[in-house]
Amino acid sequence: MTEINETIDLMMNHTSVRNFTDEAISKEELQTILKAGQMASTWKNFQSYSIIVVQSQAQKDAIYQYQPQKAIKNCAAYLVFVGDLNRAEKAVQLHGATFQPAGIESLLISSVDAATAGQNVLLAAESLGYNGVMVGLIRDQSAQISEVLDLPDYTYPIFGIAIGKAARLNKVKPRFPLESIAFPERYIEQDEQAIKQFDQIQEEYAGTRRLNKWSERVVEQWGKPEIPSSTENLKAKKLL
Ligand SMILES: Cc1cc2nc3c(=O)[nH]c(=O)nc-3n(C[C@H](O)[C@H](O)[C@H](O)COP(=O)(O)O)c2cc1C
Repeated sequence: MTEINETIDLMMNHTSVRNFTDEAISKEELQTILKAGQMASTWKNFQSYSIIVVQSQAQKDAIYQYQPQKAIKNCAAYLVFVGDLNRAEKAVQLHGATFQPAGIESLLISSVDAATAGQNVLLAAESLGYNGVMVGLIRDQSAQISEVLDLPDYTYPIFGIAIGKAARLNKVKPRFPLESIAFPERYIEQDEQAIKQFDQIQEEYAGTRRLNKWSERVVEQWGKPEIPSSTENLKAKKLL
């Protein structure tokens, strides 16, 4: 077993926190967390994302109105990660070229950039004694969230991160056995048995919660057509 250092220990003990105390986060700590987030790898250093730092109760409530998750209302800071090709449009204009951002590849570039930065931010926050949760369900109301945040053309909300001091910590949530996720040299398709085994592990963790089996949650997501909100909003913002 490799020696566990402080960084790996922090990562292994990650757990999403959705309940916060009313303790504020200092301006300096928030700056540090955001700067650490910025240093994540990013496609060609394009940095195709922006972060809207929401700290006023009025703005938190405005978002909560569309996505009523308690963490948004009660956190010290709600950071909305936005896929952003608006700066790219200005760069292309600068050179008199025709801006052509619409398509899946652009969405992958900006979404992955936002995700790497977001994970850095959460980890940095955890290293300073804060906790948080990513909130992707804001995409269910993409247009409304975009309006609340004044998002211009070529931008779209991807997820938020609610950050604060934990009021309580959940147990670390289990993951699939590594051999079901990381394969030597070539892909290995998983059989029903692997799914059932993880359902049981997740069920033991979740206990009596609704949809406590992993596969039941997957059905809830992919056993029906996807919600149209993101696609409609991406078209409105000229990204599809
Ligand atoms: C992109 C993304 C979006 C998420 N959206 C939500 C959300 O809307 N609400 C929520 O309660 N948790 C959300 N989560 C947190 C996951 O549910 C959580 O990370 C997962 O269940 C694993 O639990 P853990 O983080 O405690 O280990 C999101 C996580 C990611 C990466």
